[in-house]
Amino acid sequence: MAKSKTAYVCNQCGAEYSKWQGQCESCGAWNTLSEFVVEAAAAKNGAVKRTGYAGAAEAKIVALTEVAAEAETRVRIGMVELDRVLGGGLVEGSVVLVGGDPGIGKSTLLLQTLGALGARLRTLYVSGEESLAQIAARAQRLGLPLAPLRCLAETCIERVIEHAQKDKPRALVIDSIQTIWTETLTAAPGSVSQVRESAARLVRYAKETGTSIFLVGHVTKEGGIAGPRVLEHMVDAVLYFEGESGSRFRVLRAFKNRFGAVNELGVFAMGDKGLREVPNPSAIFLSAHSAPTPGSAVMVTREGTRPLLVEVQALVDQSSLGNPRRVALGLEQNRLAMLLAVLHRHGGIAVYDQDVFVNVVGGIRVQETAADLPVLLAVLSSFRDRPLPDKLVAFGEVGLSGEIRPVPNGEERLREAATHGFLKAIVPKANAPKKNKIGEMEIVAVERLSEALDAVAG
Ligand code: TYD
Ligand code: MG
Repeated sequence: MAKSKTAYVCNQCGAEYSKWQGQCESCGAWNTLSEFVVEAAAAKNGAVKRTGYAGAAEAKIVALTEVAAEAETRVRIGMVELDRVLGGGLVEGSVVLVGGDPGIGKSTLLLQTLGALGARLRTLYVSGEESLAQIAARAQRLGLPLAPLRCLAETCIERVIEHAQKDKPRALVIDSIQTIWTETLTAAPGSVSQVRESAARLVRYAKETGTSIFLVGHVTKEGGIAGPRVLEHMVDAVLYFEGESGSRFRVLRAFKNRFGAVNELGVFAMGDKGLREVPNPSAIFLSAHSAPTPGSAVMVTREGTRPLLVEVQALVDQSSLGNPRRVALGLEQNRLAMLLAVLHRHGGIAVYDQDVFVNVVGGIRVQETAADLPVLLAVLSSFRDRPLPDKLVAFGEVGLSGEIRPVPNGEERLREAATHGFLKAIVPKANAPKKNKIGEMEIVAVERLSEALDAVAG
């Protein structure tokens, strides 16, 4: 039996040290080291071996031609949106981290996932947060088949694994990883070292036994799951469950996926019977204005494999601060600052004495640069207090020299907008079809920011 030994890891960058020290030499952060367990290696030189599944057997060098590539075995869960985000179903032996704000619906999603797997796969739901009675009540309300749903209320990782080894579930949910702790560490449950060590044990268990594991992780105030990046590196896939508190729509996004595409979106609606899938979400992120309002622009984004119509809102207001505010919700803050500089330099519109707030409706996050042009149009519209033309959509990347660059899948985006009754589209020239019309929709092809601004000036 190998003796356990502790080492220290930086919560910020993941660098490891054998002794505690105040500052991390690798990233320079202070007071970020916390304790974790390493297994003393049997090797005579006394080198420490990390507790990783890869180190279990003695390793030797082989050419890849000699390695039989394993095709991953997948199980379709039966929830189309979740299957798609996972890259086509749940991969055997994979560890999937599901992160999100408290109350967003992670426990509901995973209970429904196990319900959908039903009797096809032996499953186990380990809860450290809710009592078995609470889970049973929820499952009943969700109308799930109760017989195949098997639960365990336990937080000690050693005992969880003991139960799993006896019970042999093929899919395991740990809700949540922050409540799980190991006897080998003295740190409090929920601390980075406990979370990291417990997750490492579960990852090893998943790889050794081929069990698929879902880990629920609460997002901290800073937006990371229990110490930035610590868990993300260990697992095969990271899914974030997002949504606006007031809205019933929830978006599941693959942030990392070793078995599929990232940025794939799954859309759900939360109702009194739990989460319902939204198979055709393209227009749900538009707010229903009866008349065009200043500061609102509609874009066609293509996060994942589907086009989505999304509304961007801007509020530009005289600032009383020496350093006016730039707030971007659902978009990147630095990108907004850059776009405002381009608007000034190449559009001749100065907002340096104005507070600028930009928000993507529906609580979804838009990461692609196709949002650049609609963001600037929304800002301009708010600044001038004049609505954009009715039934207008726009997309396009804005370059630093004021050029409008094309984005992928332009024609597909345009067709989606036309289907939803939009009448005018301002798009990069290279994205525009030869005919400047799709159905009823007129297409304005632009190459420079100034042309786009002229197109909405009328
Ligand atoms: P939950 O899955 O407990 O969130 P998390 O595990 O991410 O903390 O979801 C809790 C919220 O979802 C709660 O505010 C109530 C709401 N909810 C519904 O609206 N309908 C339902 O059928 C269920 C089960 C939950
Ligand atoms: Mg929960």
